[in-house]
Amino acid sequence: MENYSRSLSRLTGESTLLYQEIARNVERTKGIKTINFGIGQPDLPTPKRIREEAKSALDKGFTAYTPALGLDELRSRVAEFLSQRYGDNIVKDEVAITPGAKTALFLAFLTYVNPGDEVILFDPSFYSYAEVVNLLGGKPVYVPIRFDSDRGFYVDVNDVVSRISSKTKMIVYNNPHNPTGMNFDPKLSEELVKISRERNIILLSDEIYDYFVYEGRFKSVLEEEWRNNVIYVNGFSKTFSMTGWRLGYIVARKEVIGKIGILASNIYTCPTSFAQKGALASFDAFDEVKEMIDLFRRRRDVMFSELSKVKDIKVYKSSGAFYMFPDFSSILRNTGLDSKGLAIKLIEDSGVITIPGEVFPERVGTNFLRLSFALGEEKIKEGVERMKIALEKLAG
Ligand SMILES: Cc1ncc(COP(=O)(O)O)c(C=O)c1O
Repeated sequence: MENYSRSLSRLTGESTLLYQEIARNVERTKGIKTINFGIGQPDLPTPKRIREEAKSALDKGFTAYTPALGLDELRSRVAEFLSQRYGDNIVKDEVAITPGAKTALFLAFLTYVNPGDEVILFDPSFYSYAEVVNLLGGKPVYVPIRFDSDRGFYVDVNDVVSRISSKTKMIVYNNPHNPTGMNFDPKLSEELVKISRERNIILLSDEIYDYFVYEGRFKSVLEEEWRNNVIYVNGFSKTFSMTGWRLGYIVARKEVIGKIGILASNIYTCPTSFAQKGALASFDAFDEVKEMIDLFRRRRDVMFSELSKVKDIKVYKSSGAFYMFPDFSSILRNTGLDSKGLAIKLIEDSGVITIPGEVFPERVGTNFLRLSFALGEEKIKEGVERMKIALEKLAG
């Protein structure tokens, strides 16, 4: 038997990959062309001006290590941009550039979580939060996200307060939200900052989908009094379609960024040099971003109108990110399947890939499937139509 670490044994691995594997099998054995609603990234190329900037950096030989916290000019540019956007005075020393937002999240957990510490997570939430908390010996404590067909997905702040104990170290907040596609009520951001400050708890706020907002006002935690206890995470991956570039960032007070720098230099030395140069051009690419968001809004409308025609599911028109999270409980009850079983059946019978809600990672998601609308309108129409036929067949 291999002598792997105990920490590693606490990880479950990214279970969304399993569904891609089943889909490949279906393509091979049944010759069905699959439609992938499991996708977690924009399908557009990175804006040209960003690519050109990175290419030019490469051509000029900008290929050596950079400082661990990232290029000074990029840190300053992020600070300046966020200050303008949120009316604050964020400075370079409060910003760390990281290899992707996932690494930023990992570093934030590593900075604070000791074995036995409790970390409050929304249920459902991005799978990686619970994995890293478990890896570090912490304990995820879940606050259920509630669902109401009129109001959509929401969090009752009393549910958060009731989960706080003397062991609570951190609350993780993700807005707009993966997997529900909710741009939460601005009051939630305000209240979470306030509660965590009053209770001396770290608030880790993941705002990676902050430009994917279709309804309502988006409220960043950076609009509040954040310096005391907030760790803010964002990145270039989704907004500029740069998932493979691996660039994210953390905003926190200067002393915290200092700790992040120590971790960074021990783990990855620095973010990729020429990718950071490319990212400098992203601040001039907001016309392209706007075009992409307009496109995603149209796709969202198409997906919502198609899903609304499917019998026995309840769907809420998402207000943010690029996911729709319909409730399949009636179908699950009638067929005796769980959401994983239903997702597998849909791939096998219709070649449509969805992500079952229970990978996010506790119980609330068990009645839901996540569908991404980061793909063309025709595919969205065809995919939902195929699902509809398969579900009707299942219902007998
Ligand atoms: C909520 C959330 N946070 C963070 C990430 C990771 O972003 P990055 O690709 O920059 O690591 C994702 C990616 O799917 C996400 O959905």
